[in-house]
Amino acid sequence: MFSLATLFEDSALTPHGFCLAWDPLMIALHVVSDGVIALSYYSIPATIGVLLLRRRDVAFGWMGWLFALFILACGTSHLMSIWTLWRPDYLAEGLVKGVTAITSFLTAAVLWPLLPRLVAMPSLASLLAANERLADQVRETERAVVALKRETAERKGAEAMLRQSQKMEAVGQLTGGIAHDFNNLLQVVQANLEALSCRLASDDSALRYVRRAMSGVQRGARMTSQLLAFARRQPLTPTVFDAGCRINEMADLLRSTLGGQITLALPERTGVWPVEADANQFDSALLNLAINARDAMPEGGALRVALEDTRLPEEELAADPELEPVRYVAVTVSDNGSGMAEEVRRAAFEPFFTTKPVGQGSGLGLSQVYGFIKQSRGHVILESSAGQGTTITLYLRRVEVPATIDGQAAT
Ligand SMILES: Nc1ncnc2c1ncn2[C@@H]1O[C@H](COP(=O)(O)OP(=O)(O)OP(=O)(O)O)[C@@H](O)[C@H]1O
Ligand SMILES: [Mg+2]
Repeated sequence: MFSLATLFEDSALTPHGFCLAWDPLMIALHVVSDGVIALSYYSIPATIGVLLLRRRDVAFGWMGWLFALFILACGTSHLMSIWTLWRPDYLAEGLVKGVTAITSFLTAAVLWPLLPRLVAMPSLASLLAANERLADQVRETERAVVALKRETAERKGAEAMLRQSQKMEAVGQLTGGIAHDFNNLLQVVQANLEALSCRLASDDSALRYVRRAMSGVQRGARMTSQLLAFARRQPLTPTVFDAGCRINEMADLLRSTLGGQITLALPERTGVWPVEADANQFDSALLNLAINARDAMPEGGALRVALEDTRLPEEELAADPELEPVRYVAVTVSDNGSGMAEEVRRAAFEPFFTTKPVGQGSGLGLSQVYGFIKQSRGHVILESSAGQGTTITLYLRRVEVPATIDGQAAT
């Protein structure tokens, strides 16, 4: 019966060392050489095994295992060569060689058909280049996405501005119609009150009632005039004036309106800033803005009025087809007061919109500013956010070559 022991029972044969005449040098040479080869052959499959276990994605991994097995068998056959120097177990050695032959044959046989696929495998350099190209494409896509997002935001902004200006237009037409009829009614009431006061010249107590009625009519007239201004139906008397001079002439009025707790900075009287508009309406607009700023800074603060010779921002021109790309004098009024929440900012120009308590604000100040500027073919931009103060810029059309302004030649 065959057992493992029978492999090592070739006592009739001569050990290999006998052929070497037991020459110690020859024996040592064979032992050292075969030993080093065997150790190396055992080390290589160990490395391959660790690599394949850690990198399971390596292409043709099974081929690596086959190769490792083949080298392992080679190593064992060299160990057997050392063994047979003293022990003539040539059957065992032959069997080890047989296993080596099978694994080497298999390895050699599969390598040839595999060769085209191995040759076709991309090199590390080409993989790195492909990776770089891919990274470029990703970067380009990211840039395109950012640009798309920016364009979408710009388009949404322009649409919102257009919707707002259409809404103001519609509200203006409605308000204008009502204010016009209401104004006619007030004139009838006023004329009759005046006639009545002539008749009652000697009756002081009756005249008191008439005077109260008259002051009510005048308040109503002021409101309708603001409404007409918003609706752009206020009769205007445009003149050419220097915005810088006009603002500085209002300095005292503005200071007394703002009170001692608010500092006022006005534009320096350098350059000439000729604009064409109704000067009195301009004064009212500036005063309205100063009053609003004062109300927004109950604890004090700073109001700054600045001037600039400029053009309209591109996004404003794009959003409103009625605007013209001409030169404007921009009058900027900024405060560092409470600022406006988003919903207040959106509605601020609408007539009767106010956040002030009943009796403290009618919500017509900014409507007058808006209507006057629009009727003067200018533009107004409101920038504000809660806690960040407010900046309102009035764009008045700049007159290119006025003959004289307030007695001085224009530059
Ligand atoms: N500089 C500002 N800072 C903060 N909020 C402001 C400012 N200007 C205007 N507002 C807000 O806009 C609203 C509308 O202003 P607008 O001048 O039209 O009306 P009003 O000041 O309330 O009343 P009126 O001017 O008719 O007396 C105000 O109630 C306020 O909430
Ligand atoms: Mg106001």
